Amino acid sequence: MKILYVSPEVAPFSKTGGLADVAKALPKAIRNMGHDIRTIMPKYPSVMGVGIAVKGTAAFTVQMHNGLQGAAVSWAEYQGVPVCFVENEAYFNRNGNYGIGDQDYPDNLERFVFFCKAVLEYCKAVDFVPDVIHCNDWQTAALPSILKLIYRNYRDDLFFTNNPKIVFSIHNLAYQGLFPEEQWPILTLPRNYYQNDFEFYGRINLMKSAIIHADCLHTVSATYAHEIQTTEFGFGLQGVLQNRKDHLHGVLNGVDYEEWDPAGDPYTYGVHYSPDDLSGKRRIKSLLLSEYHLPEQEEVPLLALTARFVPQKGIDLVIAVAEGLLHLDTRLIILGEGAHHYQDFFEWLLRRYPDRVALYVGYNNELAHKIQAGADMFLMPSHFEPCGLTQMYSLKYGTLPIVRLTGGLADTIQDGVNGFTFFDYSPHFFYEAVKRACDVFRNHKEHWQRMMRTAMQQDFSWQHSATKMLELYQKG
Ligand code: ADP
Ligand code: GLC
Repeated sequence: MKILYVSPEVAPFSKTGGLADVAKALPKAIRNMGHDIRTIMPKYPSVMGVGIAVKGTAAFTVQMHNGLQGAAVSWAEYQGVPVCFVENEAYFNRNGNYGIGDQDYPDNLERFVFFCKAVLEYCKAVDFVPDVIHCNDWQTAALPSILKLIYRNYRDDLFFTNNPKIVFSIHNLAYQGLFPEEQWPILTLPRNYYQNDFEFYGRINLMKSAIIHADCLHTVSATYAHEIQTTEFGFGLQGVLQNRKDHLHGVLNGVDYEEWDPAGDPYTYGVHYSPDDLSGKRRIKSLLLSEYHLPEQEEVPLLALTARFVPQKGIDLVIAVAEGLLHLDTRLIILGEGAHHYQDFFEWLLRRYPDRVALYVGYNNELAHKIQAGADMFLMPSHFEPCGLTQMYSLKYGTLPIVRLTGGLADTIQDGVNGFTFFDYSPHFFYEAVKRACDVFRNHKEHWQRMMRTAMQQDFSWQHSATKMLELYQKG
């Protein structure tokens, strides 16, 4: 099969969250199964920072609402997969992908409509006729309508005679691509499509249009596929999703064990470990504690949080119980960035408990690896979690996750088997779950080690999920 995988971010070229990891690993798994898949993303400045030679392929123009805009596509091969980069200085040569801090760029609709159109024009320019175009999240959500309502309606040669199947993946329904109605001309679609296909409480909603127009809808866990059809987790789109439930499939993400494996991790101080010999983990813990100036005490549990600081991740619960957890005689290491009020709290916590808390505000992939390896428990009390990759990484590192039972967390963690779970979104139940984990860690060491080994031996590799994705690609 020929597949074009369209993503606003692909690791290591650009990453703000788990989608980038998926966009790197899933195409690799599918290519290894013998299919012609290539990936396409915008060319942000970070692409050149990776230091991989990029070759030019095509230059063309894109018809936008305000005239023709130039695009150039270059590409690089990364881990066997061709990754294409759509270049336009004005739209993508900026430091943030989608905005600066928590302020979105005001021209995001224009930027990503351009990206979607450039993806289709690229296919024409290089005569790449995909069987499947796989779009991911709101930044690519205009593509299904543009393809169906412009290219196919107007009998564009390539996309009229060939009819690529469009798969749309929802990685997070909280980000839908909402824009003021006045920006409608940017989509260059006839006005009569606005009301039914895009309108959402008086605004343009790109994800709504993709849910209506994609041939196949996918989200990143079975539980999340159910949750998003409910009022609690549907963010207003539950009705639109229910209408298309026969085309909506939940397939869990996988883990790229070439990157996340304690047996060969390049970032863990040169120390490695496996289920057969866990001694390296203790060594990494003590090196991590000393790097962050915390006293070394092997028997004291080290709790970790690595997350975007957004309400989704249950940061409010962490804040509510943080001091209580430290009074259970634990250490806490926190890595993340995001909302200022969350950062302010963690900075306060560090000042108050300098000998118990380590904090890194910002993005740091190396530290993310060290934390997975050095911590004992990984906190993920998410309010909602479409899939979650970090809990699957921590399983591989024998760092037992403490999670709220939602989305992909409910599909991957079993209480007392490979982690600790709670259901009610309340500080009390979260605190109790951590307390139970601390009790097992301190007083039932054999049970703890058994759980670690179970977690480390579980297989969440992409092999299985990629096979299921291929079935979606191939389905009628
Ligand atoms: P989400 O996509 O909702 O942020 P996931 O668990 O799917 O959550 O993926 C998060 C990814 O981002 C993981 O690879 C995690 O290690 C990484 N990550 C999150 N925050 C940081 C950070 N501050 N520094 C480095 N990596 C981070
Ligand atoms: C989103 C979700 C996360 C998921 C990731 C990759 O960012 O928040 O749960 O793992 O996408 O699909």
